[in-house]
Amino acid sequence: MTLIDGRAVAARHKAEIARETRALVARGVTPGLAVIIVGDDPASRVYVNNKKKDCAHCGLLSEEYALPDDCAQEELLTLIHTLNRRADIHGILVQLPLPAHLDEKAVLPAIDPAKDVDAFHPYNVGRIMIGDFDLVPCTPAGVMALLDAYGIEVRGRSCVVVGRSNIVGKPQAMLLLHRHGTVTLCHSRTENLADVTRRADILVAAVGKAGLITGDMVKEGAVVIDVAMNRGPDGRLVGDVRFDEAAARASHITPVPGGVGPMTRVMLLRNTLTAARRQCFPDEVCP
Ligand code: GUN
Repeated sequence: MTLIDGRAVAARHKAEIARETRALVARGVTPGLAVIIVGDDPASRVYVNNKKKDCAHCGLLSEEYALPDDCAQEELLTLIHTLNRRADIHGILVQLPLPAHLDEKAVLPAIDPAKDVDAFHPYNVGRIMIGDFDLVPCTPAGVMALLDAYGIEVRGRSCVVVGRSNIVGKPQAMLLLHRHGTVTLCHSRTENLADVTRRADILVAAVGKAGLITGDMVKEGAVVIDVAMNRGPDGRLVGDVRFDEAAARASHITPVPGGVGPMTRVMLLRNTLTAARRQCFPDEVCP
């Protein structure tokens, strides 16, 4: 069994991103990311702090905009419109979830699609659907980068994604499909979930329910990717997968923490770099 080391893979990606950032800076462009946080959700605060730290580590500029919990939607939209017009800000991210009185469906489409480093704007979602994209949701992109780092073939294999969120499950299914996986997308209403997951060569768990995936739901030799970050009863971070049980059957498995999480962080930097290149050097073809 191979333990997938997300921290090590992320460190390699970060070194490459830092190198590419230095090259952009030498050409007069410092990639800039604006992060908007509304309210004081403690988990969101940790995520936003990490984003700023990652940007500083790799030489990107980051700006934080912290709005109060009761901020009016108009205020948030005005801020997004201002950032859309700023030439030195190449990426804009609105940390989710938003307070209940704010309408995500109105806020996310206000971001300029070229600066939408989460790839949550309907335009970018559509591009992912048709397989013609440059900005890609960070967590699914991180999962694909982990599969690549460990030489795991997707083509023709049974890929089961558990969880159908817009942030992870749906785009994850699309990315696996574009790599020619045979994809099944499961969710809370799926009947006989274990029968489906037991057919998976590659199993991606992204529900947010600790202990959902037990060892007997994992095929012998499967690749198990645990996207979730749940707080266990003792306050420790755990995924959706019962790690010890699944590890006894898997060929490869991600730990929580130290698996997908670091890759999600790094993919935000990658998207910001891509967005900066597209905006500043539109005639150059990016990889
Ligand atoms: N909240 C949890 N995950 C994410 C993410 O990937 N992007 C944003 N903007 N908010 C999140």
